[in-house]
Parts: sequence; structure tokens; C-alpha cells
Amino acid sequence: LLPDSGSTSWSAPSNIALVKYWGKYPVQLPANPSLSFTLEACATRTTLEFEKVSEHASSLADTDKLKVFLDGQPAPDFEPKIYKFLERISPYMPFVNGLKLRLNTGNTFPHSSGIASSASGMAALSLCLLEIEKQLDPHMDSLRFSRKASFLARLGSGSACRSIEGGLVLWGAAEGVPGSSDLYGITYPGETDPVFQTYHDTILLVDRGKKEVSSTAGHGLMEGHPFAQARFQQARENISRLEDILKRGDLNAFCELVEVEALSLHALMMSGEPSYLLMKPGTLAVIEKVRRFRKESGLPLCFTLDAGANVHLLYPGALSAKVYPFIQQELLSYAQDGAHICDRVG
Ligand code: PMV
Repeated sequence: LLPDSGSTSWSAPSNIALVKYWGKYPVQLPANPSLSFTLEACATRTTLEFEKVSEHASSLADTDKLKVFLDGQPAPDFEPKIYKFLERISPYMPFVNGLKLRLNTGNTFPHSSGIASSASGMAALSLCLLEIEKQLDPHMDSLRFSRKASFLARLGSGSACRSIEGGLVLWGAAEGVPGSSDLYGITYPGETDPVFQTYHDTILLVDRGKKEVSSTAGHGLMEGHPFAQARFQQARENISRLEDILKRGDLNAFCELVEVEALSLHALMMSGEPSYLLMKPGTLAVIEKVRRFRKESGLPLCFTLDAGANVHLLYPGALSAKVYPFIQQELLSYAQDGAHICDRVG
């Protein structure tokens, strides 16, 4: 039985997609499978305090039932989103209706960095909720725990379901990949060259402003988008090509595929209605320099992008002594005040 009150804490990392999720069906089901690197340094830590209010309370509509704090300060702006999330998950976790919740959250990365905290935040919150459920169901095994945490996180923010497991994570039913599902993310089960566990992700904060297009609006652009079906097909093919690349450790093919995925995401936004151009001049300058460096040095440094101007620079850890000096000398000047985050697969 659940005690009258208690508290749970979890930390969850962010992730960066190699094959992108862009376009969805109700409720939070992906239009195509996606595959990501789980990160290490960029994370959200959440403490969830709960207090039983009434076993049979029918809704969360009482606003006193949820209070959100960011770095110890009241953050009422986050409450509607969390509220909606709790309502959405309550059929799968009915006990939540009978709890008063106080959520204290903080990110390891700067708040106004242009790095979205929705994936790590929703993952950390889902893990806290599962921790409470585990007190009601002490026999829940670790597989069920993480599957359900991923399932819940997906309902908060699609990509968050890829932040429950480490390493390479696959979300979405992918042809020929047993166990893959649209409902939750799984550790990528295919054979992979060990080099991919060593990857570094140096994130250049080219533009630290708030995201110009919310991901909800972005996914919405794919409804009726003239290239939608071709895109979903491209992503499915890229997943199966990536399976082969991961197995063979073909780093040049990896670079090509990951960059095409990033640029496809941006191309879809540019060609949508309304149209969004989310790259900044610095983003393009970095892309050109990365490609030139790869050609001249033969080293497999590549970039990927989220739905914004910041650039993720991906390379094997063993090459950092050769690649990082290039980043410092040639690329950091395109980041706002030189701001960057040294992250890695975690
Ligand atoms: O999880 P959402 O709804 O914020 O969508 C994220 C989509 C991208 O970050 C642009 C791509 C991805 O697969 O993570």
C-alpha cells in the first residue's frame, strides 16, 4: 500500500536522434521509426513529492493538486503542460488522481540554451511516477518498469520515450526488428560496432533563443505536407540502412546518413505551410566547415540538428584529440559567446 505521503527522485538524460521522428498520429504514435543516441551530460533531475488526497477523486482539475518548481522557484508556466500529461496518463495510472503532487525539477544544461528539456524532463517525471507505482506493485520487474516509464514518457513528449534506456534507442515498429514498438522505445537490439558506444556529441549553442516552432506545431506541419509520404518512406529506409552501418561500423556511411536526416528535417520545415527556416547563418557556416574538414582530414566528424539552429557534432571518442582542437579553433566562434556543451553517449 502507498504511504500517505512520500517522495521519489530520478534523473534522466536528453537524447539526440540520428533518424528523426517528425510527424505523428493520435495519440503520440510516430509516423516512422526513429533511432537516437542517449546522452550523458544533458539531463533533468526531478523530485516528485506526493500526498494522498482522496482515493476516489475523479479528476486533477483542482489546481492545488499540482505545483511545479524549477530550480526551487515556482514555475506556474509549466503547470498546464504537466497537468495535461497527468490527465493523459491517468487511465494507465489511476492512482495519480488521488494524489497531490509537488514537482521540483532542474536541468544540468542552461535553461535558455535552445536545448529542449522536454525529452529529459518527461522521462524523469515518468520514472518518478513508476517509482510510486512500484510501491503499489512491489513485484513489478525491471523490464515492465522501464517499458511503462517509456510508454508514459511518450505520452508527454514523443522523443522522451527514447530517454529511458542508454546507448542506442529505437522507437517505432521497424520492419525486421523484433520487439520494436510504436508505443515505447527499446535498446536497439541489432548488432553494433563498439565504436558507437564511444561517440561524443559536442553541442554548439549557435542560437540560445526560445524555439521558433513548437514541436507540436512542427509535427502538425506534416499533416497534408506534400512530401509527407516520401519522408516517412525515407525514414524507414534509413533505419534499415543504419542497421547495416551500425553492424559494419561504416563511419563514412554513418556521417552521410545522419547528415541527410538532419537536413531532411529542416527541408520539411522549410517546405511546409507555414514555412520555417530554423538554421542561422552560423549553422550553415558550421555545416560547410564540418564537411570540408571531413573531406580534407578523412576523419568521420559529422553534424546533426534538432528543430533549431544549434549544431550537434558527432565523432568517435578515440578521435577527440584530433577533432576537438578543430572544433575549438574553427567552430566555436559560431556559437553564442562560444557556448557549447561537451556531451557523449551515455
Ligand atoms: O518529442 P517531440 O514531440 O518534441 O519531437 C521531437 C522531434 C525532433 O527532436 C525534432 C526529432 C527527434 O526525433 O527527436
